[in-house]
Amino acid sequence: MNEQQIKEKITNEFYWFHKHPELSFQEYETTKRIRKNLEEAGIRILNLPLETGLVAEFGSGNHPIVAIRCDIDALPVTEEADVSYRSEHLGCMHACGHDFHTSAILGAAYLLKEREQDIHGTIRVIFQPGEEGPSGALKVVETGIIDDVDAIFGMHCTPLLEVGKMGFIDGPAMAAVDAFHIVFQGKGVHAAHPNKGIDSIVTAAAFVGAVQTIVSRNMDPFAANLVSVTHIEGGHNWNVIPKSTLIEGTTRTMTKEERKRITARVEEIAQSVAQTYGAQAEVTWKPGPPALANDKTWGIFAKQVAKEHQFEIAPMEPSLGGEDFAFYFEKTTGYFVQIGTGLSYPNHNPKFKVDPTALYPAASYMADLAVQALDTLHDDKGNK
Ligand code: NI
Repeated sequence: MNEQQIKEKITNEFYWFHKHPELSFQEYETTKRIRKNLEEAGIRILNLPLETGLVAEFGSGNHPIVAIRCDIDALPVTEEADVSYRSEHLGCMHACGHDFHTSAILGAAYLLKEREQDIHGTIRVIFQPGEEGPSGALKVVETGIIDDVDAIFGMHCTPLLEVGKMGFIDGPAMAAVDAFHIVFQGKGVHAAHPNKGIDSIVTAAAFVGAVQTIVSRNMDPFAANLVSVTHIEGGHNWNVIPKSTLIEGTTRTMTKEERKRITARVEEIAQSVAQTYGAQAEVTWKPGPPALANDKTWGIFAKQVAKEHQFEIAPMEPSLGGEDFAFYFEKTTGYFVQIGTGLSYPNHNPKFKVDPTALYPAASYMADLAVQALDTLHDDKGNK
């Protein structure tokens, strides 16, 4: 396929993916469509135990091995975007641009197919399921195909940058995401006799206040950390003090040490507040991805390739949002870039949209990044 054909193809695929969004781990039609497209282009697909998502491979199968990855799932959001190719699945929408990622990386695969003779080593192209919450990256890691990867690159579209701009954040870029679920157990009683019971609402309320002091009193004021209480539920009636009250929330941290500290403090405060009021606290955690930290050396390389592709490098701030790409960095090194898809409403907003003219430049960049990374890895070995 030539440049024009690839451009048209991936733009049409983008419209298709946008109209047919699927939630995390339900990306059956999406996977089928990706597979069909790759097979028609004669691209090799690895035989892996993934129910949704897939991995294609180029090159010899030997080192060096570079991977590029996109995510393919959508969100439980009802679309309100001003586009002609709106979601046809009620209550489901590509509100984070994973349709853009999927089509751009499909384009990268087409370009790699055209350039197979330039691939000195192996390139794996990962279409990852379940990024929005259930940590689908772990499913890919479990297949073992990251174990021998020398470097991995990922991208996210950003509504903060115009088309033609890219953002790079060296070092910690996105947060570790953990969720806590706490049940304060007291003793239910008539509202007129609080002295005969243990008030789980008063206990939970004291916790909500006390937990705010973690970031302000326990963490380095120069570091970015966060604790948010997002769900509170207790009682059914105006004249009954309820036996139990539930609290949920999330913590965000940028380093392993901070993650350990903040988790320990939430736990300690829950237990000590409960004890103060004579109640019990049952604390459970749902750990999400670790913090995502980009490798500085690969950053120099990724920026260089961006300049060669006429991208303008724009300033970009770290975020306390999470990205399960971070799981790959527990196995190997690499870089996660941000690609401008035109100014728009924020990710996950029902009005979020991307400019499809950003597709081909993103595809071409990611393909070239992989090919050039192999050459860089060859040079490094030669120098050692
Ligand atoms: Ni996303």
